[in-house]
Amino acid sequence: MIYKGKRAGLDYITFSDVDRIHECLSRPEVYRFLASPWRLRTRERTRKRIEALLESTDRVGFKIVDLSTGENAGVVTLSRINYRVGRAEIGYRICPRHRGKGLATEGVKLMLKHAFEVLNLNLVYAQVKEPNVASQRVLIKNGFKLVGRIPQYTIVPGYGRVALLIFAITRDSFLSGA
Ligand SMILES: CC(C)(COP(=O)(O)OP(=O)(O)OC[C@H]1O[C@@H](n2cnc3c(N)ncnc32)[C@H](O)[C@@H]1OP(=O)(O)O)[C@@H](O)C(=O)NCCC(=O)NCCS
Repeated sequence: MIYKGKRAGLDYITFSDVDRIHECLSRPEVYRFLASPWRLRTRERTRKRIEALLESTDRVGFKIVDLSTGENAGVVTLSRINYRVGRAEIGYRICPRHRGKGLATEGVKLMLKHAFEVLNLNLVYAQVKEPNVASQRVLIKNGFKLVGRIPQYTIVPGYGRVALLIFAITRDSFLSGA
């Protein structure tokens, strides 16, 4: 385990995680609010995405482990990492049956530690569709501030046209706990 919290830990993703990640995260209730909800979520696509992640130089991803069972409960990623200016976008997903236990909140907290204390980034931001209230809670509980809103940004199945919210946290506010 790379990072260990009270309920969640972060560990490297490997090819042995493909089936679990696919089974868990390729469901409509998981990808509804993510980019391209219309895309086919096949096992092959999951494998390719993991391969791309492992080979990428501007993305980092960990699996979120539920420490009470040892199971892989989700993933958290930093993408579009720009080391020159110290910026990255955070994303996260938790399998439906592991939700509501604080795993995303703690997984994000551990990833912020990695971003600011290990990668020495200066800013982490997140893009959230407005109806995705659970995701906004995860960010707010981690000290992110709402910094922007683009109305009618995209279409989410079942919700119609929705706004995009931008949340951000700086290294200074993370380290000072503000
Ligand atoms: C968003 C997501 C990662 C949250 O995972 P989780 O492990 O259940 O999150 P946590 O338990 O740490 O916290 C969830 C918070 O949202 C709240 N919440 C959950 N569903 C909610 C809802 N429908 N309305 C309002 N609040 C809700 C919970 O009460 C909790 O807040 P609290 O601690 O203040 O009570 C998970 O729902 C998910 O994977 N969603 C699909 C993928 C996704 O949207 N990712 C984010 C893209 S920006």
